Amino acid sequence: MKKIAILASGSGSNAENIIRFFKDHASICVDSVWSNRKEAFVLERAEHLNVEAHHFSKAELADTDRLLEEFRKREIDLIVLAGFLLLLPQKFVHEFQVVNIHPALLPAYGGKGMYGSYVHEAVIANKETESGITIHLVDEVYDHGKTLFQAKCPIVAADTPQSLAMKIHELEMEHFPRTIEALLLGSA
Ligand code: GAR
Repeated sequence: MKKIAILASGSGSNAENIIRFFKDHASICVDSVWSNRKEAFVLERAEHLNVEAHHFSKAELADTDRLLEEFRKREIDLIVLAGFLLLLPQKFVHEFQVVNIHPALLPAYGGKGMYGSYVHEAVIANKETESGITIHLVDEVYDHGKTLFQAKCPIVAADTPQSLAMKIHELEMEHFPRTIEALLLGSA
């Protein structure tokens, strides 16, 4: 069985979708969910779906090897960042394969501070005619690793950051689990 560890900071709709997708999968499972925010809804979602849910502090992530050791012990094959808002220390990228989802067409609208609704607000403010999602491997540079998959959606004049967020959400639900599956099965 290939094992996934999910890191998330917020609501966790992607984490939940990934957990459900791999629930009865023949060769891939979600081992655990990890959040830097104790009150993040993602932890409740995971528990509700009978997946281990853990909290860690920002200092633990940066200054200790607790998480690294947990992932080694659990023999994690892939770390999935699903709305994870801290910078992942390089030691993780050196030892594990890490994949991230970004709610825009990288390299546009990437980098520090570009997450969640801030991305959609910037895209709408610039009157872009399309946006989308980017699923990419994580390397040492923020929002920079190899792109595995992109999908686009059109933006019309009536769109708001909220309506764009809904279009992006649909793309994420459709494509993130499948891209993870292809990566782990060696076909991405
Ligand atoms: C998702 O839209 C994801 O693409 C974005 O955070 C949201 C998390 O939603 N990630 C980033 O902006 C990373 N830079 P969720 O908690 O409901 O899955």
